Amino acid sequence: MDILVTGGTGFLGTALSQRLESEGHTVVRLGSRDYDLTHPDALEAFVGRRYDQIYHLAAWTQAGDFCLHHPGEQWIKNQQINTNVLAWWQRRQPQAKLIAMGTSCAYSCDHELSEENYLVGLPVDSLFTYAMTKRMLYVGLQSMHKQFGLRYLCLVPSTLYGPGYHTDGRQMHFIFDLIRKILSAQLHGSPVVLWGDGHQKRELVFIDDFVGISLNLAESCDNLLINIGAGVEHSIREFAKAICDLTGYDYQLIQYDRTKYVGALSKCLSIGRLQQALPNQKMTLLRDGLARTIAWFQERPTILQAA
Ligand SMILES: NC(=O)c1ccc[n+]([C@@H]2O[C@H](COP(=O)([O-])OP(=O)(O)OC[C@H]3O[C@@H](n4cnc5c(N)ncnc54)[C@H](OP(=O)(O)O)[C@@H]3O)[C@@H](O)[C@H]2O)c1
Repeated sequence: MDILVTGGTGFLGTALSQRLESEGHTVVRLGSRDYDLTHPDALEAFVGRRYDQIYHLAAWTQAGDFCLHHPGEQWIKNQQINTNVLAWWQRRQPQAKLIAMGTSCAYSCDHELSEENYLVGLPVDSLFTYAMTKRMLYVGLQSMHKQFGLRYLCLVPSTLYGPGYHTDGRQMHFIFDLIRKILSAQLHGSPVVLWGDGHQKRELVFIDDFVGISLNLAESCDNLLINIGAGVEHSIREFAKAICDLTGYDYQLIQYDRTKYVGALSKCLSIGRLQQALPNQKMTLLRDGLARTIAWFQERPTILQAA
């Protein structure tokens, strides 16, 4: 198939594109440096080819407290990116199926995190704007389907982890930050101070699992929103303990800064729809996924110097 991937230079886009190429597909990977999607005509260079699938991964965001401090820019840029991509899809590539990424942050903490509640209630305040742009992306997909009959799939990932994360100083998702802090402490003797009291819970999905699931769902499901989670969450303390076990760092040395921002206290997606679509899906064990992620960090000591 001919496949175009926006956000193809990102953490997920890189892994996804590599997998698609390894399966023999022709993949066009876009990053912001060459194709800034906030510009309405950024995709006009790609009108000569008819794509079978468009994976729309591009989003202007980072982890940590980035969303808290950039709501205005996030609104403008992400709305521009999503509108430009959807408009191009409708005008120029209506034969393509568009697979877009939602976010678990779009859910309200007051409701079960199941697909029918994606647009119900209000997202958490600190992530509100980013979350709403993802909700609007889903509304856009539904609208394109309703009026023009275009085919879409909207996937809602839990936090992804695995080898291949950013090395350019962007704010990291908690699990990478945790690994980096612990490995840096081992190398340089720096203290490990984690945000919050460590009791907040998170769910992780290994990047290769997510890519495999996305490819399967892209083949088998149309015009749906589907959560992709592991179905189980762990506290930050449990993640820290597992990393200490794998690295040999003394868990008792870890400190907690209760004054720092931690986001939602619990975030575990309902995965009934995923289980129905892919009943035999197996997930990488947390310990194995962490071991591979830690090994990737250990091969990149420059990231560890920055902690
Ligand atoms: N990673 C997760 O745990 C997670 C969880 C839930 C949802 N998601 C969603 O999954 C998607 C991919 O996530 P990710 O972790 O791979 O994110 P990422 O590493 O931050 O990648 C974001 C991508 O978007 C591109 N981008 C940003 N601004 C752009 C612009 N103005 N024009 C064109 N491209 C632009 C970036 O290009 P450059 O790098 O070239 O600037 C990069 O390729 C995102 O939509 C994200 O919201 C991810």
